[in-house]
Amino acid sequence: MMKLKKGIPLIDQHDQHGFWGGKFGGSFIPETLKKPVEDLTNEFKKLRNNKKFLKKRDYYFKNYIGTPTSFVKLNNLTKKLGGAQIWAKVVSEANGGAHKIYNATVHALICKEMGKKYIVGDTGAGYAGKMLSMAAKKFGLKCKIFMGARDIKRQKPNCNAIRKNGAEIVPVYSGSQTLVDAVSECMRYWVSNCDNTHMCVGSTVGPNIFVKICGWSTAQISRELKLQLKSEFKNIPNKIKLINCVGGGSSAYGFWSEFIDYNKKKIELIGVEAGGPQKSKLHAAPLSNKTKIGILHGAASYVCQNKEGQINETESISAGLDYPGVSPMHCFLKDTKRARYTYATDEEALNAHQMVTKYENLNPSLEPSHAFAEAIKIAPKLSEDTIIIVNSCGDAKKDRDILKERLGKK
Ligand SMILES: Cc1ncc(COP(=O)(O)O)c(C=O)c1O
Repeated sequence: MMKLKKGIPLIDQHDQHGFWGGKFGGSFIPETLKKPVEDLTNEFKKLRNNKKFLKKRDYYFKNYIGTPTSFVKLNNLTKKLGGAQIWAKVVSEANGGAHKIYNATVHALICKEMGKKYIVGDTGAGYAGKMLSMAAKKFGLKCKIFMGARDIKRQKPNCNAIRKNGAEIVPVYSGSQTLVDAVSECMRYWVSNCDNTHMCVGSTVGPNIFVKICGWSTAQISRELKLQLKSEFKNIPNKIKLINCVGGGSSAYGFWSEFIDYNKKKIELIGVEAGGPQKSKLHAAPLSNKTKIGILHGAASYVCQNKEGQINETESISAGLDYPGVSPMHCFLKDTKRARYTYATDEEALNAHQMVTKYENLNPSLEPSHAFAEAIKIAPKLSEDTIIIVNSCGDAKKDRDILKERLGKK
């Protein structure tokens, strides 16, 4: 039976072949990538135990990313809904406006340590690309961002920022022209350029080592939250629900990692995937939709697929959640029943965005709006001593055009 181990970070709970629970993850890579992936694995192993490197990481987390981000009670929303208290960890305050800056900064630091001058990455909502372009600029690296042509059209503000930072956007016209195709194209590029180029995968997906590096980077979010909970309540309260949207799963892992060892009755972990348009069947929700295991981007995970095992095209109003696969760590958390996964539709996310912005000084992007939709759904049914915390992991400035089209907002 699959079991989580206590006292060991989830990023390290895989077997010697890189699989969580014996079946999720792994490293399905072409022969050409064996050496660079092995080099990166060894480098990361060394750096994560190197005091000088950790000091450098912490310096940039504090002085460049601007941690800790705040932890606030949403008094008006709580009052409006009745029931549980609603709080937010405002990760969108981080430099650049989203959690993707943690992973991007760590990858840029690793790239420098490895003596490489070029860095490439994928992006969907544009945040992973924007952050990598920022980190590349900061550390003097040349940067290319792979992005689906459909996402380039719908996430203009982030594309402008990427170009302003001096990075090149490589448009991807294959498949659904979204994140899934951008990751594929980025990996293809890395196969031919791995000698002088480092690759950053924008979420906790891909071959094992990329899942680990990304999870190690975003885990900072829950380290901060743990301290903030202790400072606010003196102790960790007894009824907490940590709600996070799940695309590839990097913000959710980062938000939860310090709390996975706790009993689920004390701290429930709730992941919210993209249900897509109410009337469509193209859900980007591999965990809540009971999909089968498949191989995508070098790893085994639950994947939206057809009967023949071909990857399904997905659809979501949120470019960041519009992805048919998910992190192997979330598959493991699902199968061990440590986390519960559900989804919100496009309409529910839009509704949640409207409600949060109406009552609070918060502007969650469409991704965390999915998490707020679940909070809005469950809060009225819960007691006042229940603490719901939503990771508000992205700012909606990037969604300007979509919000204007769907809600008539400026
Ligand atoms: C603000 C925001 N939240 C969430 C996501 C989803 O990714 P992940 O599940 O890796 O956090 C994205 C992806 O682009 C994003 O930009």
